[in-house]
Amino acid sequence: MRIVCCCFSGTGNTERACRELLKKLEERGHETAYFAIRRDAERPSLAGCDLLLIGYPVHGFNAPTPVLKFLKSLDKTQKKTPCYLVRTSGEPLRLNNASGITPKRILKRKGYAVYGEFHYVLPYNIIFRHSDGMAARMQQGMELRLPSDAEKIALMQRFKVKRGPMTRFVSFVCRVEHTAMPLIGRHFKTTEKCVGCGKCEKVCPQKNIHICDGKPVFGKSCVGCMGCVFSCPADAIRPALFNGWRVNGAYSFDAPPATDDEVCKYCKKAYLRYFHEGEK
Ligand SMILES: Cc1cc2nc3c(=O)[nH]c(=O)nc-3n(C[C@H](O)[C@H](O)[C@H](O)COP(=O)(O)O)c2cc1C
Ligand code: SF4
Ligand code: SF4
Repeated sequence: MRIVCCCFSGTGNTERACRELLKKLEERGHETAYFAIRRDAERPSLAGCDLLLIGYPVHGFNAPTPVLKFLKSLDKTQKKTPCYLVRTSGEPLRLNNASGITPKRILKRKGYAVYGEFHYVLPYNIIFRHSDGMAARMQQGMELRLPSDAEKIALMQRFKVKRGPMTRFVSFVCRVEHTAMPLIGRHFKTTEKCVGCGKCEKVCPQKNIHICDGKPVFGKSCVGCMGCVFSCPADAIRPALFNGWRVNGAYSFDAPPATDDEVCKYCKKAYLRYFHEGEK
């Protein structure tokens, strides 16, 4: 079976999840291809695609705008190609399932059949930085789920995720972020710590950053993915309203995973439920 994965990822969590899932599918003898949803990326070829994976991080209980635009740009297919959503989020809240509503609707309109949705909780790229132990436990939580998730895909199992009564409402209200982010992103600034290395320009999936006279200039297409802030080697980017919530620098996943007692206090019950479900 030829499996094509099209993925948007700001800070690498979703890309890692999708690539590891594809690796598991390759081990089962399937042919796979990964395409990044980025403004400067080649258009994925869906010719001969038997199964489509759509990867995205949850942004404000929704899928990010580039993902929705990408789905709207897909050609209509007549053959009801099976499709799975693969998402990552910083919190294990069920409300995050709201983010599957719009992608599912668009895919259905295009002729794709969404068979299921996979969800991995990975360390925040915004709000606050998790400890390395917590990051390692999340990575472990994903790794424990991957083999059975790959099996579900290989067997083309159909399953539904639970969406509570509030999800539609929350998803609708939080969609304001899609309009607000390009405006907020125009006010991103760099400090004197900027060394003009250009990494932020390369990382930005929206091609929203241009280096002028050795300094980044932010355009009108920001989607708030935090890729630039996270990857700046000098921690020089101040993301306007989100400055107090910025997380800079990659996580290490090599630390011993946090024990149940060490799981962070914020949303502890939900994190433990997620970890224990995976361990089962
Ligand atoms: C603008 C923005 C909004 C976010 N909103 C949510 C959210 O509603 N719920 C959640 O659990 N995590 C949220 N997150 C955290 C990301 O979903 C999480 O860190 C994700 O794994 C990032 O994936 P990436 O590295 O592929 O970009 C948000 C992150 C950003 C940057
Ligand atoms: S990545 Fe950081 S240091 Fe490099 S150009 Fe961008 S803001 Fe400056
Ligand atoms: S400017 Fe930064 S936060 Fe905005 S889309 Fe580009 S990388 Fe993401």
